[in-house]
Amino acid sequence: MIEFRTDLAGLSADQLEGPFFVGWLNPPDAATHLELLEGSDHVVLAVDHESGQVVGYITAISDGVLTAFIPQLEVVPDYQRRGIGTELVQRLLEDIGELYAVDAVIDADVEPFYRHLGMSPARAVMRRDYERQSGRR
Ligand SMILES: CC(C)(COP(=O)(O)OP(=O)(O)OC[C@H]1O[C@@H](n2cnc3c(N)ncnc32)[C@H](O)[C@@H]1OP(=O)(O)O)[C@@H](O)C(=O)NCCC(=O)NCCS
Repeated sequence: MIEFRTDLAGLSADQLEGPFFVGWLNPPDAATHLELLEGSDHVVLAVDHESGQVVGYITAISDGVLTAFIPQLEVVPDYQRRGIGTELVQRLLEDIGELYAVDAVIDADVEPFYRHLGMSPARAVMRRDYERQSGRR
């Protein structure tokens, strides 16, 4: 059974084995992953009740007035296409509340996923420093 949580109480890095950050060249380790979850304004976790492992998560950064941004959304490969990503987005939007804008920068191949949630494609700009991709300081 999958349990969805918006609080991080008692969550430890060893529940973040994933695999997460699939395909990243220089991925954050589990401790850094926990740190970024703790630093987010909104988080929803999907936890496999049997193993206690987090199998999906979504984060948002919000100004609480107009705009929230979704930096991270991931479901571990073995758990994909079971509706978990949809549930994560819907619960996050509920947790964020009524705002003017909720934005995410996405790869083209996941556009159908976001479209099915009623989100529309837009143009984005971005800057990346791959030396810092692991989040280690
Ligand atoms: C994108 C992602 C979060 C979707 O999670 P998921 O739990 O598999 O999604 P759902 O099961 O809720 O999918 C619902 C519908 O969205 C669409 N969809 C889901 N994943 C998709 C993908 N990778 N590409 C295209 N469409 C997709 C399908 O229509 C799907 O319905 P179906 O399974 O009946 O065909 C997951 O594939 C993932 O973690 N990918 C790697 C990381 C990533 O790309 N994150 C998003 C970056 S912002």
